[in-house]
Amino acid sequence: MNKANIKNIGVFTSGGDSPGMNAAIRAVVRTGLYYDLKVTGIYRGYDGMISGDFHLMERKSVANIIQRGGTILKTARSEEFRTAEGRKKAYEQLKKHNVDAIVAIGGDGTFTGANIFYDEYKVPVIGLPGTIDNDLIGTDFTIGYDTAINTVIDAVDKIRDTAESHDRLFIVEVMGRDSGLIALRSGIGTGAEAILIPETKTDIKALLCRLETSRKDKSSKIIIVAEGDDAGGAFEIAKVVKEKFPGTDTRVSILGHIQRGGPPSCMDRVLASRLGVAAVESLMEGRNREMIGIVNGKIHFTPFGNAIKHNPEVNPELLKIVEILSL
Ligand code: F6P
Repeated sequence: MNKANIKNIGVFTSGGDSPGMNAAIRAVVRTGLYYDLKVTGIYRGYDGMISGDFHLMERKSVANIIQRGGTILKTARSEEFRTAEGRKKAYEQLKKHNVDAIVAIGGDGTFTGANIFYDEYKVPVIGLPGTIDNDLIGTDFTIGYDTAINTVIDAVDKIRDTAESHDRLFIVEVMGRDSGLIALRSGIGTGAEAILIPETKTDIKALLCRLETSRKDKSSKIIIVAEGDDAGGAFEIAKVVKEKFPGTDTRVSILGHIQRGGPPSCMDRVLASRLGVAAVESLMEGRNREMIGIVNGKIHFTPFGNAIKHNPEVNPELLKIVEILSL
């Protein structure tokens, strides 16, 4: 199977962490060892690759981590790796530690770096989609997204209880600097009255009109806004809502980084395990410069050049569901 004659695979996490990254690391390490390869853990993403923060992994290095959020390998957004000098140092460290292929777990910034690195140094690389934002082309779901949306619905269900008790309107801000997919699914899942996302132009007038004409017997209302929405964050939306409806008791809640932590859901654990096994096997088969995802239940390969583009499309069916059900 080891057509590519790989002997030592380096694995690292990079960019924002996401629940399930540990399950992916575990799968890469154990699959490598299963095929009698060495597996080297690279700490702190590209920064650790540059500084040589390398540790040989054993089976027990990844024991008891499948259920833990965060990443045991730590993560970083490396400025130095953006420079040619930084990448040269990283290559020298890989050579020094005899790492001959890498598995990069992260989002589009991670894959952009890996793509440039391959152009320069030809170190085979496979990417796994690890981000709560679910904004990569080439996979139905990224590792961490399912957990994040479940964290959001848990929080919003609690907010709904108190909103209902006080007859309040809540504006809840969720993560997604460039992507509204956390807002969209969690908004549907919590029966939000409105969902504001960066992919569609937010029409404030239409939002105010919707609030005005919605059922008068509703005692609570929840608007979910993605942090990257074009109309601004939750506080900006709250300002216009309060101006228009001064009699409505309005509150803001920003969920923030709790969305990135916590034990991964079963779906994320299984997704990460499948992708981790596939990453090692595909490097051995000679595949390279591709992100592995799952599309329609099956392993799917996407060249980095395509995967790194943000997915601008939002499923129109989901948008319609919001329109119909939230009134
Ligand atoms: O992980 C992706 C993401 O959650 C974005 O949605 C968010 O804008 C960003 O990370 C914030 O990350 P940090 O606080 O680490 O800069």
